[in-house]
Amino acid sequence: ATGPDGRWLVEVEDLAVHFPGRRRGLPLPGRGRPAPVRAVEGVSLRIAPGETLGLVGESGSGKSTTSRVLAGLQAATAGTVRYDGVDATAPDRALRRRLAKEVQLVFQDPYASLNPRRTVAQTLDTPLRLHTALDAGQRRARSAELLEQVGLPAAHLDRYPHEFSGGQRQRIGIARALAPEPRLIIADEPVSALDVSVQAQVLNLLMELRERLGVAFLFVSHDLAVVRHFCDRVAVMHRGRLVESTDRDRLFAAPHTEYTRELLAAAH
Ligand SMILES: Nc1ncnc2c1ncn2[C@@H]1O[C@H](COP(=O)(O)OP(=O)(O)OP(=O)(O)O)[C@@H](O)[C@H]1O
Ligand SMILES: [Mg+2]
Repeated sequence: ATGPDGRWLVEVEDLAVHFPGRRRGLPLPGRGRPAPVRAVEGVSLRIAPGETLGLVGESGSGKSTTSRVLAGLQAATAGTVRYDGVDATAPDRALRRRLAKEVQLVFQDPYASLNPRRTVAQTLDTPLRLHTALDAGQRRARSAELLEQVGLPAAHLDRYPHEFSGGQRQRIGIARALAPEPRLIIADEPVSALDVSVQAQVLNLLMELRERLGVAFLFVSHDLAVVRHFCDRVAVMHRGRLVESTDRDRLFAAPHTEYTRELLAAAH
């Protein structure tokens, strides 16, 4: 499932992320530094162009930390990240710029992720200004187009976030992510803060856009029903490690590890 040149869009090899251990209470005499938190340990995964990889696992298993490394928001303690065949473990300026355009994020909380003082037009203008050569008039027209693409009327461009519902705000967040024409969207629990009825609508929108634009997804979720609906392949994390990484259908039909079986059983 690689691109025409046989390339993976993302290749993560043996990734580790450790955080310094936190001291609780007063340091005890005779004790050294607390052990580091091994948030991610030995994780390898790949995403082909246009493919959707689901990342599942219980709370604290390292899903967000892994996705933050891919988004360039978190440094790796060890391991390598390759993007489109290029080493992106410690990206230089030019590569950081390219990644800032081609890798976009959709966040869990549509209330916190939009600036309440900026209109939709202003919110959408920033990525267009940074990552395209469009002039102000063209950016306004493109913003209107993006808004319609996510199912909102272009007439709402000059509204503020508080004038929208949660689901509509998440649509605005999706429009913002689409603005730079990304190749990879990292979505960390993008629908879990929404009402169940709205979740399906937003997921359907994401599926429709994925079909139309051919963008790849890293889709982080603890909701296996959502993952089953949305993802091509699924990687299962447990305590910082990848315990299984397989085809969606194979995972649900015949989970390999006891942990995945428990996870699936717990979801029913
Ligand atoms: N900045 C940080 N400093 C210290 N520890 C951290 C930091 N970020 C994450 N951790 C720890 O790393 C581990 C993995 O956290 P992470 O947020 O990646 O889990 P998660 O799988 O996304 O969980 P959830 O489903 O609750 O979102 C946890 O033990 C967490 O407490
Ligand atoms: Mg998380």
